[in-house]
Amino acid sequence: MSTYTLDTSTSRANPTPAPMRRLTVPAIRGRKGGDPIVMLTAYTARMAQLLDPHCDLLLVGDSLGQVIYGLPTTIPVSLEMMCAHGAAVVRGSWHAVVAIDMPFGSYEANPAQAFESAARILKETGAAAVKLEGGEAMAETIAFLTRRGIPVIGHVGLTPQAVNVLGGYGARGRDKAEAAKIVADAKAVADAGSFAIVVEGVVEEIAIAVTRAAQCPVIGIGASAQCDGQVLVTEDMLGLFERTPRFVKRFDDLAARISAAAADYAAEVRDRAFPGAEQVYAALGQDPLDARS
Ligand code: KIV
Repeated sequence: MSTYTLDTSTSRANPTPAPMRRLTVPAIRGRKGGDPIVMLTAYTARMAQLLDPHCDLLLVGDSLGQVIYGLPTTIPVSLEMMCAHGAAVVRGSWHAVVAIDMPFGSYEANPAQAFESAARILKETGAAAVKLEGGEAMAETIAFLTRRGIPVIGHVGLTPQAVNVLGGYGARGRDKAEAAKIVADAKAVADAGSFAIVVEGVVEEIAIAVTRAAQCPVIGIGASAQCDGQVLVTEDMLGLFERTPRFVKRFDDLAARISAAAADYAAEVRDRAFPGAEQVYAALGQDPLDARS
């Protein structure tokens, strides 16, 4: 639950919150054709704190299955996982709209199932919106949720929860029929009331067509710079993994930097160089305030 407050003087979990008014779902919807929307994934409070000032949307993606839990796909991700990480991200942010992925199996059966799962997500996390995968087949569900107070981001093109049907994570829309289907999917989820749509892993001209066809903002990943915004998995863009999809640009090489820091730590422990004089407590009789400075 997100209803407790941490003691900021003793906890590193909550350093100096900057009071800001959080962006709203209508504000995001109003960005169609305007300033590009900046979206990144976050799964933890600390990462949310770091990303929040730079982002319009923070997505608690079900990619946490692979990124955090080392699972092979997003299929095993549960509602409990999404709620726990979603609440952490809401606690760690003040500015961005937080949207949470509905995990596989929590919404596809019918609109009532989707409502029950989405309501639980919003109640337990304090997030403003959910995201769900699927095109025309999900339009009725999206309309049902939206009419009942649950803002929805659609997700079309490459939909990772459908990996077993698609047979892999390759780019979609390479033939005319599939390209037309993706554009129709986007139009259907936009018309159903989605306030934004993620289009993932499609040939660029499809991303452009989808952006033109949908009346809500279209956020691309492996799509086109002409979309209304962009999203990436944060750990991919930070260079935390050796292998990333072609569409990922690495803005850092965190894997190498973490590895170097861990190697330095290990060497200092083995040499008894850590902890040094600055990291150990003062001897009895020494002024404790002096010892802390
Ligand atoms: O799960 C996720 O992180 C996502 C993004 C890649 C859009 O759906």
